[in-house]
Amino acid sequence: MDLSEQLIKEKLPKHIAIIMDGNGRWARKRSLERIRGHQQGMETVKEVVRTCRELGIQVLTLYAFSIENWSRPQREIHALMMLLKRFIRSEIKALQKNDIQIRSIGHLESLPADVQNIVQEAVEKTKNNRSMVLNVALSYSGRDEILQAIIKIVDKVAHHDFSLSGLNEQTFSQFLYTAGLPDPDLLIRTSGELRVSNFLLWQMAYTELYVTDIFWPDFRKEDLYKALLDYQKRERRFGLTGEQITK
Ligand code: FPP
Repeated sequence: MDLSEQLIKEKLPKHIAIIMDGNGRWARKRSLERIRGHQQGMETVKEVVRTCRELGIQVLTLYAFSIENWSRPQREIHALMMLLKRFIRSEIKALQKNDIQIRSIGHLESLPADVQNIVQEAVEKTKNNRSMVLNVALSYSGRDEILQAIIKIVDKVAHHDFSLSGLNEQTFSQFLYTAGLPDPDLLIRTSGELRVSNFLLWQMAYTELYVTDIFWPDFRKEDLYKALLDYQKRERRFGLTGEQITK
């Protein structure tokens, strides 16, 4: 039986976040350049986006490029930027057709101007799409996001545009890049590392974590179904007791 048939439609996560790791190791295992791993990883991105849309997932956030990734070799950074452009160019029609909205989180302004433009154009073109949000983390770091939110709040307070008495978890969330999106219900990390790597630190307070040893380029839709089935077996308590949840 197809694994997807075992999924309970009502218990699917609203928001899935993914740390797409292992592209370099996938390539090294095959004596290929790291860049080949990223190219193959892009094929996985397409399959996962398609599958999430089919399942009716509302938000998919992909960690494509961290602030720390700027320290990688120039050649690799360039290749990743090219891939991102290629992804948007080749997929924009399909994203539109499938009513998928593109958003980005992170320091978009740190990216090369041509990449910024193409991302901004895609965000603009798809802003009225409602069936799914594809949220791409670009030049992103969770600590930096929190810091930027604090800077925005301090600035607003200084300009009498916001009062500290109105600051709580909900209002703080509205200063983050993810304003308006639900917190991730499930974080998937490929290639076996047990870390959150500065991803969505505020938003992941109650996120369920799922780690698989599979390298990102080898991750297939069946692996996504497995992660979802595992998620559906869990009891999410949000700090309450098991009895309170089943009441
Ligand atoms: C981590 O693998 C992966 C990245 C830093 C980049 C992910 C980018 C893509 C999958 C390409 C395109 C993305 C989009 C959204 C179109 P790694 O290089 O850290 O692997 P390693 O840990 O095995 O070295």
